[in-house]
Amino acid sequence: MGMKRLITILLVLIFLPVISMAASKKHPPVQVEQACSECHEAEAVTWQEHKHGLMGVGCVVCHGDLEKNFLKRPGPERCTGCHAEQVSGRAAGHKTKPKSCWTCHNGHTLLTNQGR
Ligand code: HEC
Ligand code: HEC
Ligand code: HEC
Ligand code: HEC
Repeated sequence: MGMKRLITILLVLIFLPVISMAASKKHPPVQVEQACSECHEAEAVTWQEHKHGLMGVGCVVCHGDLEKNFLKRPGPERCTGCHAEQVSGRAAGHKTKPKSCWTCHNGHTLLTNQGR
């Protein structure tokens, strides 16, 4: 095995844990009876004042269960159930399948940076 290749493999082995930690960053432990809003009041207030809060689309819909499938920045797969047309790129203002909804929408106000 060449020296360069060996070094590459070693580097990958050293950094792999760092890479996978970033991908599945854990939420700090929380008691079951604690509501998200107890610790994240600002986000909860913003959410409540906009469409998802008003329609009861809860924090866990996007962020997942804190233990198993927690995501800070959820991908479009978490929207499909209710917004399939936007996810697949078949809606007004959504003519291509987006990799992320957050290039245009704010996670909690849902408003776009395009004047709405
Ligand atoms: C007991 C307090 C507490 C409760 C309850 C709580 N969190 Fe958190 N949360 C934290 C702390 C502490 C952090 C880490 C803060 C930081 O890194 O700035 C955090 C971070 C986060 C983050 C950002 C993670 C990141 O990578 O920056 C999200 C999203 C989040 N919490 C969502 C939730 C949701 C959704 C709920 C309810 C299901 C919830 N939290 C309940 C304390 C709590
Ligand atoms: C429609 C999906 C969605 C819902 C519902 C949602 N969030 Fe978020 N949340 C996001 C996105 C996207 C981000 C990341 C924003 C960013 O990176 O700029 C985020 C970020 C956060 C953060 C981290 C903020 C920071 O500055 O690091 C916290 C805390 C959080 N959300 C809590 C909540 C709580 C509490 C609720 C329910 C009251 C909630 N979220 C509901 C999409 C959502
Ligand atoms: C459980 C169903 C559900 C899921 C999942 C869901 N939403 Fe929604 N969303 C709604 C409802 C209900 C409304 C309000 C529709 C209305 O009033 O016409 C809404 C409205 C919106 C709006 C329009 C806000 C406005 O002010 O007009 C945006 C943008 C949006 N959602 C983005 C997302 C994104 C991005 C995701 C995934 C990360 C997501 N939603 C996941 C149910 C959902
Ligand atoms: C390129 C920017 C962009 C991206 C990416 C984007 N949106 Fe939008 N979205 C918009 C704009 C602009 C509007 C306002 C639509 C209009 O009235 O023309 C909108 C409106 C919406 C609405 C309200 C319904 C409507 O048509 O008015 C929903 C729901 C929505 N988006 C969901 C999503 C979801 C889910 C994703 C990710 C899969 C997403 N969007 C990604 C720009 C974007």
